[in-house]
Amino acid sequence: MTKILVVDDDANVQRLLRVTLKQEGYEVVVAGDGAEGLRLWETESPALILLDVTLTKLDGYEVATKIREIEGTGAHVPIIMLTAEKEVEQKVRGLRAGADDYLVKPFHQAELLARMKSLLARFSSRAGTGGIRAPLGKLLAFYGAKGGVGTTTLAINAAIALHQEHTRRVALVDGVLQFGDHRVFLDLGNDRKSISDLVSAPSIDNDLIKSVMVRHDSGVDLLLAPPSPEDGDLVHEAQMDQALTILRTMYDYVVVDVEKRLGDLTLSVLDHADMIFVVMTADLSCLKNVRLVLEALGRVGYESSKVKLLLNRSNAFTGISVQAAEGALKRQFEFKITNEYRVAISAQNSGTPFAFSKPDSPLAREISALATEVERVAAPTTAKVAAR
Ligand SMILES: Nc1ncnc2c1ncn2[C@@H]1O[C@H](COP(=O)(O)OP(=O)(O)OP(=O)(O)O)[C@@H](O)[C@H]1O
Ligand SMILES: [Mg+2]
Repeated sequence: MTKILVVDDDANVQRLLRVTLKQEGYEVVVAGDGAEGLRLWETESPALILLDVTLTKLDGYEVATKIREIEGTGAHVPIIMLTAEKEVEQKVRGLRAGADDYLVKPFHQAELLARMKSLLARFSSRAGTGGIRAPLGKLLAFYGAKGGVGTTTLAINAAIALHQEHTRRVALVDGVLQFGDHRVFLDLGNDRKSISDLVSAPSIDNDLIKSVMVRHDSGVDLLLAPPSPEDGDLVHEAQMDQALTILRTMYDYVVVDVEKRLGDLTLSVLDHADMIFVVMTADLSCLKNVRLVLEALGRVGYESSKVKLLLNRSNAFTGISVQAAEGALKRQFEFKITNEYRVAISAQNSGTPFAFSKPDSPLAREISALATEVERVAAPTTAKVAAR
């Protein structure tokens, strides 16, 4: 039976939830304060937690933060925050603390159950099986056919969409080792740890990787590029291979913003890729490069089905239409992303990706559709593993 942990200090809410959830066939354990909630999470291994925000001892945010710290990167118990406040600020705080969803009291029973079911379906969780769902371990490579086509923008926002909309554990790797842009796009200082902290250690293991990953406010974990270009040279392909091998055991998706130079280091990333998004715009030098890249990837033996052509800024005027570009390449674009310069540039300048701050913009919605397609291809069955 699927076990739900309710953490709420209000006896009426406790009773109501106990009755409602039991009627639906769930097993219910109840904690009256934050500390007890944390203890019961550890001892009872619930499949999902309904967590009130205002609690004594530890409040709901603190409980969520602690759970996320303790459970590490391999596991993820879904948490729905319950609050009396409609304020967006509260919601953002809850999500930052590690909640997956949020309900304002008083809520409808049907809405609560629907949200619970959707979260339980996404996490095949410890429920029933007694074990933690293994991460999907899929690697998505974003490779730009030339500079400035939007590779970094798309990689970052796709990573966030996969985490926030599909509740996946996502690692985002800045593979542009000399001039990586993720610190700029995500407003992070040079003091944050990076891949250079990995390669300077005698050997790479899970604990070391965990210690250098930087948690972004969106919930995505980052492996940043070194803060200065000369350190980029210190990373060798064997280390990159090892880091990615371990990351794939820890995360559902490892999203890599790949270096353009097609050498051994880049191939050490692409060898891991389940999907390679070749990012381009509709101009002549991109068309020439894409042709060369497709040929080169074919020569190294990659299956053509894992290579996806992604036309960015698809409706921008370049003098070459989408049809003409497809005609020149003799294949169709798997993905087209709209041109929305203001949204893209202001997200970049403010250091807050649009998938996080402007989820309703057309650009964010198209990235979200891309994430949904990735899920469909990469994880066709896990969505169906409902916990009950
Ligand atoms: N769909 C889009 N619509 C409008 N502008 C975009 C779009 N995607 C990216 N941009 C803008 O294009 C510029 C280049 O983007 P970005 O840095 O992501 O590209 P890149 O390919 O990673 O570049 P580099 O080669 O320097 O790493 C940025 O100003 C970004 O805001
Ligand atoms: Mg870039």
